[in-house]
Amino acid sequence: MNDLKAYLAAKQSIINQWIDAYISQKSRAGQITRAMQYSLSAGGKRVRPILCLAAAEAVGGNPNDILHVACAMELIHTYSLIHDDLPAMDDDALRRGKPTLHIQFDEATAVLAGDALLTIAFQILSDPQYLASDKNQGTLEVIHNITTAAGCIGMIDGQVLDMVSEGHKLNLNEIKTLHKKKTGALIEASVFAGALLGGASDQEMLALNEYASNIGLAFQVADDILNVIGNPTKMGKAVGTDADRDKNTFPSVMGLAESQAYARQLIEKALHAIKSFDKKSEPLRGIALYIIERNS
Ligand code: IPE
Ligand code: IPE
Ligand code: MG
Ligand code: MG
Repeated sequence: MNDLKAYLAAKQSIINQWIDAYISQKSRAGQITRAMQYSLSAGGKRVRPILCLAAAEAVGGNPNDILHVACAMELIHTYSLIHDDLPAMDDDALRRGKPTLHIQFDEATAVLAGDALLTIAFQILSDPQYLASDKNQGTLEVIHNITTAAGCIGMIDGQVLDMVSEGHKLNLNEIKTLHKKKTGALIEASVFAGALLGGASDQEMLALNEYASNIGLAFQVADDILNVIGNPTKMGKAVGTDADRDKNTFPSVMGLAESQAYARQLIEKALHAIKSFDKKSEPLRGIALYIIERNS
């Protein structure tokens, strides 16, 4: 666990530095840039970009070659949080320990800063500066995979299902689909990008897809559990809000203890999927456990 803590801290630091430099170099100083920097510097865990780097490492790739791809995943994720918090969606006032973007600035700025982050992610992914490297031949396939995951059959569809099902009960299969889309899809795409660009074999790719699909669902189950029993100060966001809005969550559908047991089962399946991987996959194992043991 201490090893993992150090690993996460080291990766967070290089990711933060890269994002900070890119945003300040490529955007015009002004309100939208300040808004993007506000949300990006508020201290997210950087789970998606770290998974991307760790997946590349697990298959023998060099994480430095794909740092830009990992950071693009974080920009897409941060955009999704900014929009998720808007009054038209979850209407939340606290995120990453600070007032949400639309509270700190205004709604138009929050919409546009989210749009800008999503767009910049693809500016990064298609930047000739990085495409020049032979190691990035798979970038087009990665971009296609990310757009599918983030788009209207992936994360967006998950957000739609989340909104339209407020106030009426989903069954277990329906809520699995919802969670796999709204949260699992981007996590899966992060692992896929790292694995493909890191040079995964077909067999490694299959194993990593299975790993990612299980941790992706577990991540949202854990988020649901924390919304019931978490500490808002540690989490930097409010708790109890899912019940207030009559959201479909794992605790509401199957109960709290059952949700905890289910999250653990998913993580065991994820670990099983990569059991034949060597020591280079230790961070992936650590992150899988961290997903259900975290308190923020
Ligand atoms: C929160 O994601 C929203 C979900 C998809 C569950 P994270 O828990 O990764 O949030 P940050 O990035 O650390 O703030
Ligand atoms: C967020 O889901 C999922 C996306 C932003 C795509 P939630 O609404 O459950 O996450 P939190 O609890 O606000 O972080
Ligand atoms: Mg939401
Ligand atoms: Mg929300």
